[in-house]
Amino acid sequence: MCGIVGYIGKRDSQDILIEGLKKLEYRGYDSAGIAVFTANGLEISKSKGRLAVLEDKLRDEPLAGSVGIGHTRWATHGKPSDVNSHPHTDNSAKFSVVHNGIVENYLDLKDELTAKGHVFVSETDTEVISHLVADEYDGNIVEAVQRAVKRMRGAFALGVLTEFEPEKLVAVRFASPLVIGIGEGENFIGSDIPAILEHTRNVYILNDGEMAVLTRDGVELMTTEGEFISKEIYHVDWDLVTAEKAGFDHFMLKEIYEQPKAYRDTMLGRIADDGKSVDLKELTMDADYIKSIRKVHIVACGTAYHAGMVGKTVIESLARIPVETDVASEYRYRSPIITPDTLVIVVSQSGETADTLAALREAKRNGARVLAITNVVGSSVAREADDVLVTWAGPEIAVASTKAYTSQLIAFYLFGLHLAGVLGTKAEAEVAALISAMHELPEQVEAILEQSAVLKQVAESISSHKNLFFIGRGVDYAVAQEGSLKLKEISYIHSEAYAAGELKHGTLALIEDNIPVIALVTQEELYEKTLSNIKEVKARGAHVLGIANAGSEVEVSKSVDELFAIPKTLPLLSPALSVVPLQLISYYASLALGHDVDKPRNLAKSVTVE
Ligand code: G6P
Repeated sequence: MCGIVGYIGKRDSQDILIEGLKKLEYRGYDSAGIAVFTANGLEISKSKGRLAVLEDKLRDEPLAGSVGIGHTRWATHGKPSDVNSHPHTDNSAKFSVVHNGIVENYLDLKDELTAKGHVFVSETDTEVISHLVADEYDGNIVEAVQRAVKRMRGAFALGVLTEFEPEKLVAVRFASPLVIGIGEGENFIGSDIPAILEHTRNVYILNDGEMAVLTRDGVELMTTEGEFISKEIYHVDWDLVTAEKAGFDHFMLKEIYEQPKAYRDTMLGRIADDGKSVDLKELTMDADYIKSIRKVHIVACGTAYHAGMVGKTVIESLARIPVETDVASEYRYRSPIITPDTLVIVVSQSGETADTLAALREAKRNGARVLAITNVVGSSVAREADDVLVTWAGPEIAVASTKAYTSQLIAFYLFGLHLAGVLGTKAEAEVAALISAMHELPEQVEAILEQSAVLKQVAESISSHKNLFFIGRGVDYAVAQEGSLKLKEISYIHSEAYAAGELKHGTLALIEDNIPVIALVTQEELYEKTLSNIKEVKARGAHVLGIANAGSEVEVSKSVDELFAIPKTLPLLSPALSVVPLQLISYYASLALGHDVDKPRNLAKSVTVE
């Protein structure tokens, strides 16, 4: 995800900006740049690739000056390239902006500004901000930024400079994090604490709708409405390594806690204002094409494949199109029947998995259209697919995937609803109910996270076992697969996921005294059946943890030993909640066993070999 750093002081800013950006490298990025007030005015240097590329450029042509902003870009709108990198500027080159987040209405603003004569050079939403601020400017940068922000929708953190007022650095936060570092005779901005930790431990943490005007000697805090505010200084007592993890012990835990934001970001701008329909404007497939789809193949690896299993149910139930799922390493070797009326959906967090890419190419060779669901905009999968639905989870660093998986689920819900809208396969009221329930998911995840202490206890008792089972029916079975994979990946405890009704056809023989069984029971229509299967394992001595909906505790608790209730949602959406306790159980089990949670043995985050 993008990183921001900014400096105003007496020292040369170039190295401070570059060193600050290096501290944000762990977030992932594909290009970088800085803007500095030099003797020649506001000058920008930026380039695609690693920071080292930018450093080489700056070695040849340094930018000397004591006020500047810097950025590492994780491509969202527009591929990674020099021109799409930040900082951006306007046509007068007197304004410069770095930005994290998404400006949802940037196309409307771009049209309006183009009509006024502004000329755009990049594909980014950020460039629109620099033009908008320039357009609003009438001698006061703070007011210009306030007026610009009022016109922008979405989530963003900004750093803004103008040559007209070189003694000011303006920072804004709107649903994307931003901190202000307080120094002596110098002040800083950073999208994360590590960016500025080397220089100061005293920070203001901005809230949504707040902004700061930094000069060398002070920081003025105000709302974006212009009302002055005061804030307590937060003293950071973390070391750098902890700061990178935003105070969490591991990236995996941080990423689990980032899920509410990932859900919100993935939905952002894709749901109509009246909440009645989903409109995926980024897709180039039109209604005629959608009506011509006869079958869907979902192809992916690992966790992404498990998201695809949920995706199958989502698409079949919302759009009534038959769906097959395949692990990518099997797909092309089984001579799948791919015809031009097949839509192939490849799912990949990294967008670089070799098997998934090969499956994509096989699909295209056979004349199918390919939709990629990926977390990395400029990835190979994104570049080669016909359409891309980006999951806005931000970079995922822990090998065990969490927020990428759940954002893939959100992407499937959105796509399923988009198809249903075109095909008319679901009543308007049903679509609206699903959308409204989706909006509740982030808070419901937060409610689950608040109960992590209970799950830690469960994990600690599980950690002494060698084997366990996950069972469920329908989408609960798909989630059981993901829960089992997560546990195996990082705790190395052997587990198996079973369709609850299938256990008795063999593996029931492995159920013995005290073996833990985690049973997902979120599908009301299947309650009774799953409860019978739970009784089968209990009768053989299993210790059962039930994961069930709030409201069904009384009924389910009669059949299980322990119960963890998740907030009630619509059955199709329950995977987006029920997987969260399983992620936490895996995390705490790995921790209890003393394993390297973020870097489990033998596994890689991105597998680029077959
Ligand atoms: C590797 C990772 C898994 C991931 C899988 C697919 O095996 O360890 O966590 O689910 O690749 O990765 P992708 O980037 O294609 O989603």
